[in-house]
Amino acid sequence: MRSAPGVVPSVPVAETTGSRVRVREATPRDLDAVVALRVALLREHPDHPIYGRLRPDVDDRARGLFATQLRSTMEAIFLGEIDGEVVGVLRCVESIGSPLLDPARYAYVSSTYVRPESRRRGVLRALLRAADRWARARGLEQMRLHNVAGSVAAEHAWSALGFAVVEHVRVRNLGA
Ligand SMILES: CC(C)(COP(=O)(O)OP(=O)(O)OC[C@H]1O[C@@H](n2cnc3c(N)ncnc32)[C@H](O)[C@@H]1OP(=O)(O)O)[C@@H](O)C(=O)NCCC(=O)NCCS
Repeated sequence: MRSAPGVVPSVPVAETTGSRVRVREATPRDLDAVVALRVALLREHPDHPIYGRLRPDVDDRARGLFATQLRSTMEAIFLGEIDGEVVGVLRCVESIGSPLLDPARYAYVSSTYVRPESRRRGVLRALLRAADRWARARGLEQMRLHNVAGSVAAEHAWSALGFAVVEHVRVRNLGA
């Protein structure tokens, strides 16, 4: 278990649901699985103006970046397993809010992905429950995330799990 100085330690997260979904916090030993799932997520939206622009060496870059994230005490990467196989991922980061606004810190959820053959079996629901416990144990009272516009699964899932839309991200290319 990891904890940052002055922060409430995280609670154990392993859990089992009726559909045999087990969730655990990833460790550096899970780097291969984390890279595979998170790069698969990036490849899920090839036409997206932001996420569709993968660099050719994305796998190498991902390994370095995710290895650093797996060692960080300010975030947790959760893995969802069915029958012992890793099928889903969710990352949760303790983030700093604007000094002018409450709350000062919040939980930012990103990199959420479930393998296509394992969807609609409650994996995301179980991953989010684990992230909820992790965030609450750190004294965080709000969770935020961005989702790809027009993704039916993502939009339905986040609405079903209690996330309201409060902001839109707009992009305008400057034609370099
Ligand atoms: C979005 C995603 C993570 C959902 O994962 P999942 O494990 O299938 O979700 P769950 O089974 O826990 O579903 C939880 C609830 O969300 C809703 N939901 C999930 N997928 C849905 C879909 N395709 N259509 C309608 N509602 C959906 C349902 O209300 C569901 O509850 P129910 O099955 O009891 O009705 C998965 O579809 C995925 O990886 N999609 C591609 C990547 C992606 O879009 N990631 C999100 C980036 S922001």
